[in-house]
Amino acid sequence: MIVRLETIEGRDPGLRKTLKDATLPVEDLEDDSRSFFRGAGADGKTLGYTGIEHCEGAALIRSVVVLPEARGHGVGKSLTDATLRRLAPGTTVYLATTSAASFFARPGFTVVSRAEVPASILSTRQLSGICPGSATIMKLSRPLT
Ligand SMILES: CC(C)(COP(=O)(O)OP(=O)(O)OC[C@H]1O[C@@H](n2cnc3c(N)ncnc32)[C@H](O)[C@@H]1OP(=O)(O)O)[C@@H](O)C(=O)NCCC(=O)NCCS
Repeated sequence: MIVRLETIEGRDPGLRKTLKDATLPVEDLEDDSRSFFRGAGADGKTLGYTGIEHCEGAALIRSVVVLPEARGHGVGKSLTDATLRRLAPGTTVYLATTSAASFFARPGFTVVSRAEVPASILSTRQLSGICPGSATIMKLSRPLT
């Protein structure tokens, strides 16, 4: 499954609804330094959404969500790969998840403790407040090329 990314605004109603339905954070979608994307199949139909939060010297992948009816067909994997390709080579990439750690282990994310995470990432609203303290933090262990 190949998903094409199209840039959208944080206020996009489809993004907000799909994240909300999946109980993912929506409180900070319209804050600065965030990029969001709609993932579509060959027919242009929306399959999911994804986002990047740009931090000092690093980036946070966030808001990775596949529409419930499109799950289990490789859409999530393609969305994640396409999002990573939007980042500059050499970027250090983090994410926080409460439910999909083993999904993100496949493209090379490994679990890190909060003590290993830079302050610029820890201070994002995602990690400092919105995501539960129990969320797993992961770092991409392979270099982005
Ligand atoms: C997690 C999510 C994005 C996966 O999307 P998907 O399109 O169903 O995933 P894919 O079909 O691309 O799955 C790729 C592989 O990961 C596995 N996988 C899928 N969801 C998984 C999960 N939650 N945990 C662990 N593994 C998972 C699949 O079995 C598949 O394995 P395979 O290659 O051996 O067949 C989707 O279930 C979703 O939107 N969940 C709700 C939101 C969420 O939790 N987002 C992540 C936090 S930001």
